Amino acid sequence: MTLWGGRFSTKLNDQAWDLNSSLPVDQRMAIQDVEGSLAWADAIHKAGILSDDEHEQIALGLDTVKAEFSSGEFTFAPADEDIHTAVERRLSELVGAAAGKLHTGRSRNDQVATDFRLWMLGAIPQLDAALKDLQSALVEQAEAAEETVMPGYTHLQRAQPILLAHWWLSHYWPLERDRARLNDLIPRVAVLPLGCGALAGTPLNVDRAALAESLHFSEPAPNSLDAVSDRDFAAEFLFCTTLIGVHLSKLAEQIVLYTSAEFGFFELSDAYSTGSSLMPQKKNPDVFELTRGKAGTLLGLLTGLLATLKGLPSTYDKDLQEDKAAVFVAFDALTIMLPVLAGALRTITAKPERMRAAIDSTMMATDLADYLVNKGIPFRETHAIAGKAVCAALESQLGLEQMPLEAYQALSPAFEADVYQVFDPLSSIQKRNAIGGTSLQSVKNQIKQIKENQ
Ligand code: ARG
Repeated sequence: MTLWGGRFSTKLNDQAWDLNSSLPVDQRMAIQDVEGSLAWADAIHKAGILSDDEHEQIALGLDTVKAEFSSGEFTFAPADEDIHTAVERRLSELVGAAAGKLHTGRSRNDQVATDFRLWMLGAIPQLDAALKDLQSALVEQAEAAEETVMPGYTHLQRAQPILLAHWWLSHYWPLERDRARLNDLIPRVAVLPLGCGALAGTPLNVDRAALAESLHFSEPAPNSLDAVSDRDFAAEFLFCTTLIGVHLSKLAEQIVLYTSAEFGFFELSDAYSTGSSLMPQKKNPDVFELTRGKAGTLLGLLTGLLATLKGLPSTYDKDLQEDKAAVFVAFDALTIMLPVLAGALRTITAKPERMRAAIDSTMMATDLADYLVNKGIPFRETHAIAGKAVCAALESQLGLEQMPLEAYQALSPAFEADVYQVFDPLSSIQKRNAIGGTSLQSVKNQIKQIKENQ
């Protein structure tokens, strides 16, 4: 039995039924649907719609339904159009006629939006915990990296030496912002649609503020028309998951590059790499490629929902049924990816000698310019002189550190024998000691800041 058969003379076409049915997706909100119904039963009992006895029967029945969902014993019927129908159908099997009063003053429009928000309020802490664990993996690696130096890149060209620890932590902070963004979303999710009816509000004398409190929402939605159509929280959630996906993808791209033979900066554990069916030598970073790939899928889910929302007439429109699948797919993708990434990063092996070998002395050309700045020459001039030194080194096929002192002094008389000290990558790193720089102390301070905020 559908919840709406009365005014129809024939049953819905089978294929139209399949199109319309949302049970495959929304059965995931079974527990939330029962919880919302328990709170609604309580509210309409207080409003005088349910007698004490009816309320008790409904509450006990809903508890049984909930237990059946939790234990996996619940059986869906072919006529269950959605999770709301399934719960009400089962309740009527358990308690009989009283079940028919539960939906008084309520619509599936305010009900589904409530279920979805309840689900999301449970999902956000789960994602947050998984992100936090990935952050811990990054910090563990940063601590293990000690004084390991590596090339830092801009434009994927060797730029300046950095600490490996600094690089690890550069992936910590985006996740910190992602977590803050997710948690900022909570107050906007915790606004209760229940009690708004189909669109115009409920005719019952329901205390919506108390209802909100009983479901741990912070307030009742202030406008019923907005309440049943507002899916901002779903779009915002998808923006959060997309940006998380983008951050993970950037990290993944670097791991893919750095595990290639050309870079050789890292080696993946066998437990997190895959082989080729044809080439016996291959060790592929599939975990990271999939992470990069999923970012595209996550972005598609966000743009898909925004496109669904953009032209909807007020208030509830069935297009909105598309919202949940997108959010669930995004949540599931991250729920699978995040622990795998944490494991893969915890077990990756850094190759400090390969990283060190990729630093050539031209990467200290900025330090060469700074050396002359310390001798009182304006940076604009010292930049040009250091550039000429790089040219001279390239022409004579020597490293900057191999060029004779006379060659330097021909470019500027300010060069002295101590100039060769600037070509030590660690000394270049140590100079970058202001907050946020790559020096050992600065990186230690980052870790301290991270630990203090945990
Ligand atoms: N299944 C719908 C959804 O997910 C909720 C039911 C509202 N249906 C209706 N005919 N008013 O959005």
